[in-house]
Amino acid sequence: VFAGLAQAPEDPILGVTVAYNKDPSPVKVNLGVGAYRTEEGKPLVLDVVRRAEQMLINNPSRVKEYLPITGLAEFNKLSAKLIFGTDSPAIQESRVATVQCLSGTGSLRVGGEFLARHYHERTIYIPQPTWGNHPKVFTLAGLTVRSYRYYDPATRGLDFQGLLEDLSSAPSGAIVLLHACAHNPTGVDPTLDQWEQIRQLMRSKSLLPFFDSAYQGFASGSLDKDAQSVRMFVADGGELLMAQSYAKNMGLYGERVGALSIVCGSADVAVRVESQLKLVIRPMYSNPPIHGASIVATILKDSDMFNEWTVELKGMADRIISMRQQLFDALKTRGTPGDWSHIIKQIGMFTFTGLNSDQVAFMRQEYHIYMTSDGRISMAGLSTRTIPHLSDAIHAAVTK
Ligand code: LMR
Repeated sequence: VFAGLAQAPEDPILGVTVAYNKDPSPVKVNLGVGAYRTEEGKPLVLDVVRRAEQMLINNPSRVKEYLPITGLAEFNKLSAKLIFGTDSPAIQESRVATVQCLSGTGSLRVGGEFLARHYHERTIYIPQPTWGNHPKVFTLAGLTVRSYRYYDPATRGLDFQGLLEDLSSAPSGAIVLLHACAHNPTGVDPTLDQWEQIRQLMRSKSLLPFFDSAYQGFASGSLDKDAQSVRMFVADGGELLMAQSYAKNMGLYGERVGALSIVCGSADVAVRVESQLKLVIRPMYSNPPIHGASIVATILKDSDMFNEWTVELKGMADRIISMRQQLFDALKTRGTPGDWSHIIKQIGMFTFTGLNSDQVAFMRQEYHIYMTSDGRISMAGLSTRTIPHLSDAIHAAVTK
């Protein structure tokens, strides 16, 4: 019955890893997916995560029962505090409904489906460009996806004027997806002053913010600093949605652990919102997995472990910053034509190189370097050992 089925294309990001795995070359480098690697090019399990897992395993009262539909209650509370701040008025006033979801993607999808069912405006504006999965997640959730200008290829920076214009002409009440920090794929974030202008504009037009926070701690190395944009929007008392992921900042990629929080107008509304979120989740996957959320809760509730985590997180962020400098220096040494200062100016896990899809294909073909076709490279996949090879490849691609 499926004989007539067409072969589906590989995913533009995860498909890069599929192609990389098939390549027998010993010099191959995977800079596609945003996943942290050590200097030795190996995946990293944080020491604090290992410690938390050991504690969980040694706990004789540990069971494998179903979690509630909304997930681990302790995890939900701690996640909301992590992003909104311990003294957040919205938390103190019990105006936040938080549900544990399957990492960032699952949180976005549950939030999208909730909005499609219960919110009066079904159009969501996403930045141009954005993470390739965003339009698919929201379209399948039942929303209409439009974009707003975000990145200016000429300056390799923010198109702030374009952003303001596009949000100004969005219909009142429209949903707006915002990357909380370390914008993926560009590595370009608004300044705090620009965030404030965005906030004022959005609130004046009743645009509903839907934040995606996949890199808290990766932009500045500080969890609180990276949450500043979000906290500005919570401080004004307005409503918003927040999708959180622990994939990158705790290295829990495959555990699929994240949270969706909806900041509501009152505690009473938050209770009803949570009840409706349960109706979205139950037929989708019933209830979320227990292990990853237990690891996160163990770390977040213990001040020693929390501090240990922040040190390890900063270590990852610092290694990425050092990769930026080394790549920039290597291109300078080679005299590679062009201004490469954006490599050190952009923040977070990625550099949006400006290389076009032909140059990306050339680098894959000739140098076995794998990256997404939009020219994004995951700086977290680089090491001192692989930088000369990447620099040679970039130099050859732009001078060929
Ligand atoms: C990425 O952009 O590389 C990550 O968010 C991983 C993913 O799922 O695409």
